[in-house]
Amino acid sequence: MDRIEKVRTIVDEILLNMKDAEERRCAYLHLYGVAQACAMLALKRNENVELSVIAGMLHDIYSYANMDSNNHAHKGAEMARDILNTLNIFNEDEKDLICVAIWNHSDKSMVHGWLDEILKDADVMQHVLYNPLFDIKENEQKRFRFLMKEFDLEH
Ligand SMILES: [Fe+2]
Repeated sequence: MDRIEKVRTIVDEILLNMKDAEERRCAYLHLYGVAQACAMLALKRNENVELSVIAGMLHDIYSYANMDSNNHAHKGAEMARDILNTLNIFNEDEKDLICVAIWNHSDKSMVHGWLDEILKDADVMQHVLYNPLFDIKENEQKRFRFLMKEFDLEH
């Protein structure tokens, strides 16, 4: 089993234990949707696809595990580190990259490191592409405009 699938096993275990079926549905859609968008962005930007997918799968795990989105980026970074420590298959640099990206992912107006930016952009992509007919949240409009440019989708 590769490292993406090892992390997925833990994410699945947490999500399967969610009591509320509608919240569970949202969690699967969002975490795995963001993970796929992370893969696409990492391929486009020639960055590490494996770490990008793993950051996507874990980025909101705290919110869904605890049904609490308060300060979820920072608490989520700590929870992700616990999960990665338990798995014991990542080196310190890899754990730092993933956890810092999760820590920063709510600051959509700031620009951080390559993985932080992939994660923030993937979060926006999943929100917008879930239903492109919905209005785009104000704090996500600028990033989505840049993504349209990056993917040559401007008409
Ligand atoms: Fe998210």
